[in-house]
Amino acid sequence: MTDGSFVGTPAMPPRTEVPRASRPDDLAPREPVAATLPFERPETTAPAVPTPPATPEIGPTGRPVPVFVAPGPVVEGRPARVVSMCNQKGGVGKTTTTINLGAALAEQGRRVLLVDFDPQGSLSVGLGLNPHEMDLSIYNLLMQRDVTLDDVVVPSGVPGMDLLPSNIDLSAAEVQLVHEVAREQTLQRVLAPALDQYDVILIDCQPSLGLLTVNALTASDGVIVPLECEYFALRGVALLKTTIDKVRERLNPKLEIDGVLGTMFDGRTLHSREVMDRLVQAWGDTVFHTVIRRTVKFSDATVAGEPITAYASSSAGADSYRQLAREVLTRWPDE
Ligand SMILES: Nc1ncnc2c1ncn2[C@@H]1O[C@H](COP(=O)(O)OP(=O)(O)OP(=O)(O)O)[C@@H](O)[C@H]1O
Ligand SMILES: [Mg+2]
Repeated sequence: MTDGSFVGTPAMPPRTEVPRASRPDDLAPREPVAATLPFERPETTAPAVPTPPATPEIGPTGRPVPVFVAPGPVVEGRPARVVSMCNQKGGVGKTTTTINLGAALAEQGRRVLLVDFDPQGSLSVGLGLNPHEMDLSIYNLLMQRDVTLDDVVVPSGVPGMDLLPSNIDLSAAEVQLVHEVAREQTLQRVLAPALDQYDVILIDCQPSLGLLTVNALTASDGVIVPLECEYFALRGVALLKTTIDKVRERLNPKLEIDGVLGTMFDGRTLHSREVMDRLVQAWGDTVFHTVIRRTVKFSDATVAGEPITAYASSSAGADSYRQLAREVLTRWPDE
């Protein structure tokens, strides 16, 4: 199903190198996507951690920034940690954070699966996929019992990171799932086989608190809430917190808020700093020390269909997401 929703999406060069999963009943020989799963854990390729200053600096959140050391090797034999990027406000950096945190974790030798759970398909487009050329998407995995995870997963172009792509078809799932038994657990059920194939699964949610987002929260161990550093960003956060609390009480007792991430921060403006102060007043140490500054490099990387760690590897934006990866790993149990 396609419509005009992608009109206005920057034209992407077709990425011929990405193997496409095909329908199981196709007669044409399939690309051996399944052979890549479970794949070898990637080599650690993260650049050396910058030397910290002798006395801790006061960071953009107004607190002294701890030193986030390079993480140790992955503990084998543990299920993946599943984390949703969630905020019902649009354009706050959910997709940007999913791509770039995922790529930074892959640089740390983690096997990463990104789940595009937004019918806008921005995560898939941001990794260079054409939404109109997708044979199978997460919609098929949710709605068709004969479609398996391995049929739909594609490599992302980043070593160690795979993608479950999505396109506008997913919007139909929200309507169809209403009639399903255990409708809130559908994503959790289809992701179960991925838990022992990956170390981290990041779910990019759509900007709404509807059934798809409830599915993402039900499937998750943690939530990261990206928040744009501008005044209106703080509105609606109470509703998001209530939704997370309800999912924890009724569907998923293990759900935690891993952190609130300030994005599009501009330290030159008093406004950004005031919003950050209010965020820390409201959320305390839940707010990540790492803050993502506003830079056009993120939009440029999206047009190039790459994470910023590949597109502008030594940029400040890439370093911020590498620091976020180290900070996130300090918050996850047993990392
Ligand atoms: N730190 C940043 N500095 C400048 N631009 C950014 C930054 N982070 C994201 N952007 C840009 O802002 C726009 C929205 O970002 P993104 O798509 O990540 O938000 P989102 O929360 O996923 O949006 P949606 O709710 O529509 O899914 C994109 O064009 C992206 O390139
Ligand atoms: Mg998005």
